[in-house]
Amino acid sequence: MTTYVLRGVRPLGADPTDLLLRDGTIADVGPGLAADGAVLVDGTGLVALPGFVDLHTHLREPGREDAETVASGTRAAAAGGFTAVHAMANTEPVADTAGVVEQVWRLGREAAWVDVHPVGAVTVGLAGERLAELGAMADSAARVRVFSDDGHCVADAVLMRRALEYVKAFDGVIAQHAQEPRLTHGAQMHEGELSAVLGLAGWPAVAEEAIVARDVLLAQHVGSRLHVCHVSSAGSVEILRWAKARGVAVTAEVTPHHLLLTHDLVRGYDPRLKVNPPLRTADDVAALRGALADGTIDAVATDHAPHTSEDKDCEWQAAAMGMTGLETALSVVQEAMVETGLLDWAGVADRMSTRPARIGRLAEHGQPLLAGSPATLTLVDPAARWDVDPAVMATASRNTPFAGRRMHGRVVATFLRGRPTLLDGRLQDATAQGAGGAR
Ligand code: DOR
Repeated sequence: MTTYVLRGVRPLGADPTDLLLRDGTIADVGPGLAADGAVLVDGTGLVALPGFVDLHTHLREPGREDAETVASGTRAAAAGGFTAVHAMANTEPVADTAGVVEQVWRLGREAAWVDVHPVGAVTVGLAGERLAELGAMADSAARVRVFSDDGHCVADAVLMRRALEYVKAFDGVIAQHAQEPRLTHGAQMHEGELSAVLGLAGWPAVAEEAIVARDVLLAQHVGSRLHVCHVSSAGSVEILRWAKARGVAVTAEVTPHHLLLTHDLVRGYDPRLKVNPPLRTADDVAALRGALADGTIDAVATDHAPHTSEDKDCEWQAAAMGMTGLETALSVVQEAMVETGLLDWAGVADRMSTRPARIGRLAEHGQPLLAGSPATLTLVDPAARWDVDPAVMATASRNTPFAGRRMHGRVVATFLRGRPTLLDGRLQDATAQGAGGAR
């Protein structure tokens, strides 16, 4: 295995030093390390962070390989600095059995871009009626620890209670898509003055907040772990703050797009901005940023939701919900959180790697950049500026809301257990290591 010396990188934004990557681990850290026989990487100006961990990625395989495959989605993840992703269960068939989660896990191993951790469905077929085989998925080769009906809410309080109770046996967590279904029937965008002006059915914040409130109380009652997916409203933040202050074992994530974009953009009826939960107000964005900064929200999670142009390039009402996010996440976080002074690079490492790894119980990820740790890390050039061109992205889908936007900061290298998946901004195929390729 090739040895690398990363010369002059800034671990978590601290003073420049060298990292020696050998046999899958960080073998040494310090200035002026000898590079005999090693490949030298010039890290001048680059920030080194532990590899990012995404708690919320839609890879679409099996069933919708026209939108994304495990291989194309995980390539996009490596390009974005990720070393592990949690693959959501709303595939076709749904990942609600040991067989399907093992298939996704195996496809991830074969592609070898990042570690793929399948999320298991909470209910059979995401139908919200019967619990899926949670124990069998936990015991499978995929060792599932995160369960979610994402895309759908586990709306039945009794089922939600049972799921929370069940996963305690194997230290699992229920990741809830908080959306009271009756309050959001037919909803198209955030409910407010603007939805009335545009004539689109409104999606009230209370639909999310009602479920978050119910679920933190349920989690407290049964003493289990709850994770709240893609928090989008200031009210949800207040409930989470209240619950954490009382010691409830609740964690939460926010997407990059909810940290940067608001519902005002929907005026142009661009379907790339249609997403579940919807973009909300500037006050919500400010509350989400504050909550991520103070730790009330634990993690950034992309909700990378690839869709074909047939499903997305149509009128607003007919368009599918969701946007891609793996390749733009770091840049959005730099702009929304680092350049605003809300998070330093150590904070970014915590919210994009350490805490999501802990929530998913991934022991090999989110580790400090110290001698003896896995060489699983990413290098960021904060000074880079680049324009998003959907045509050249690694994901198979084109539905990014940032097309044409100038982004701040860029991931230039990613290492998974000492092996580069991205080097000098070029993806490195595991099956042709060193050959490189266009990003
Ligand atoms: O916008 C979304 N798209 N939100 C979800 O919760 C599901 C996702 C998808 O699967 O496309």
